[in-house]
Amino acid sequence: MSFRITYSVLEADLSTLHAQFDAALDAVRGALGAQLPSWIGGEPYRSGDLLESRNPAKPDELLASFHRTPVSELDRVVRVAREAQRAWGATAWEERVRILRRAAELISERRLELSARMTLEVGKSRMESLGDVEESADLLRYYAAQLEQAEGFRRPMARLSPHEDTLSVLRPYGVFAVLSPFNFPLALAAGMSAGALLGGNAVILKPSEEAPWCAEGLYQALVEAGLPPGVFQVVHGEGESLGAALVRHPGVDGVAFTGSKAVGMDIHQQMSTGRVRPCFLELGGKNPAIVCRDADLEAAIEGCFRSAFGLSGQKCSALSRIYVHESLLDAFIDGLEKKVLAAEVGDPSLASVFTGPVINAAAVQRFERAVDEARQDGAVVVGAERLRLEGALAKGYFVEPTVVLLPHRHRLMRKELFLPFVGVTGFRTLDDALQLANDCEYGLTAGIFSRNPEDVERFMAEAEAGVLYANRRTGATTGAWPGVQSFCGWKASGASGKGGCGPYYVSQFMREQAQTRMG
Ligand code: SIN
Repeated sequence: MSFRITYSVLEADLSTLHAQFDAALDAVRGALGAQLPSWIGGEPYRSGDLLESRNPAKPDELLASFHRTPVSELDRVVRVAREAQRAWGATAWEERVRILRRAAELISERRLELSARMTLEVGKSRMESLGDVEESADLLRYYAAQLEQAEGFRRPMARLSPHEDTLSVLRPYGVFAVLSPFNFPLALAAGMSAGALLGGNAVILKPSEEAPWCAEGLYQALVEAGLPPGVFQVVHGEGESLGAALVRHPGVDGVAFTGSKAVGMDIHQQMSTGRVRPCFLELGGKNPAIVCRDADLEAAIEGCFRSAFGLSGQKCSALSRIYVHESLLDAFIDGLEKKVLAAEVGDPSLASVFTGPVINAAAVQRFERAVDEARQDGAVVVGAERLRLEGALAKGYFVEPTVVLLPHRHRLMRKELFLPFVGVTGFRTLDDALQLANDCEYGLTAGIFSRNPEDVERFMAEAEAGVLYANRRTGATTGAWPGVQSFCGWKASGASGKGGCGPYYVSQFMREQAQTRMG
């Protein structure tokens, strides 16, 4: 495959790629049902009871089962990590870079198999899955380059006398727990883990219980690339039990987490109890787009559609609030409705499908509750039904992409839903639109569509979010890429002030030491 897939691909001849993806899908489907382990100290752990990974488009399809790691094993897991970290932290940074770069190559070589798995496991469309895998490899490469550019983060400092030499050296903290979500099951597990590993830390990855199969792919790539046993371990289990116990473990020196605000706040509290430990949180959003009077309407509709309904709205960056200038409201709503009606919802493994299922039955229930509220307090433009598809997909977790007219102050315009559900309302002046867009506890991404450079610059200066896009037809608020858009949550969307995909990421996983040597 010579074509490079990002989340921003719109038009290209992808027939060869689709044929390759179909072949990979057949091969993956031919080997379903394996029992796979957790990984402790480089050894498979097969004593725990089984966690099942099922296809959300066809919940009867068992993809693979994974041996859970019981909480009672965590002492051993952490001990192994601490031992392995001593040698890894002392390994030359050039060697850490070499291994992570090799892992990136392996992920790229396996892109078709890994993305086919991902489509089955979390219901991503094939293009989104290919993008996720490609992003994972790029994250490893981009973060490795940060270590190279900073020459291992060793920097000569000033002298107070002629007989001394001082270095500022960034050194690892020790052991990081990485808790990754289902929605970017490879990219977020790979990105957070790579930041910690390149910094010389050992990692204990607890992937989402909805996506253990993708984490297995990451483990294989890192170990085959040469990561020593115990430096990267994978424990399977539920967030409320295993994840919570891992965060509480006193032998864990830091946590990287991407997920809900409620869980993130709890982790933050744990990490500041007793002693303050580093805690990197990316906590979702309620992301707005502003469509101005002079916007390119077609671009705005396309960009809003892609960001609201890509991955069934289950991205932290997903668009969930649209503010449209009053003069364009009818035309915008009409265009968005047409776009939604033309989009195929269904089996995400098919090339024609843009929107697959939501992740599980709980998400369907959340959708049904939101729709009930919207019917009561607003007006449904399009969607709002659970979809019962035919045949093999009959039990799948499918819901219609939904557009509703809702007042700005409504609960559904404030609470993160993580669903293909977008609220639209009108505005009169850019002042109003900016005020409405910023009137939210979250601040992850935001977009504007305007032909007026002054309005765009005002938006860039005043929008309270870490990732801003203007006139982006490929995604009003989604589609950040390593080395292009740092993904930094402001306000309740994050806690570190430095984003994944960005130039300051790796250094956060290290602590500074001043070393003065007298001659
Ligand atoms: C995310 O939503 O977690 C990141 C990807 C994006 O920018 O769309």
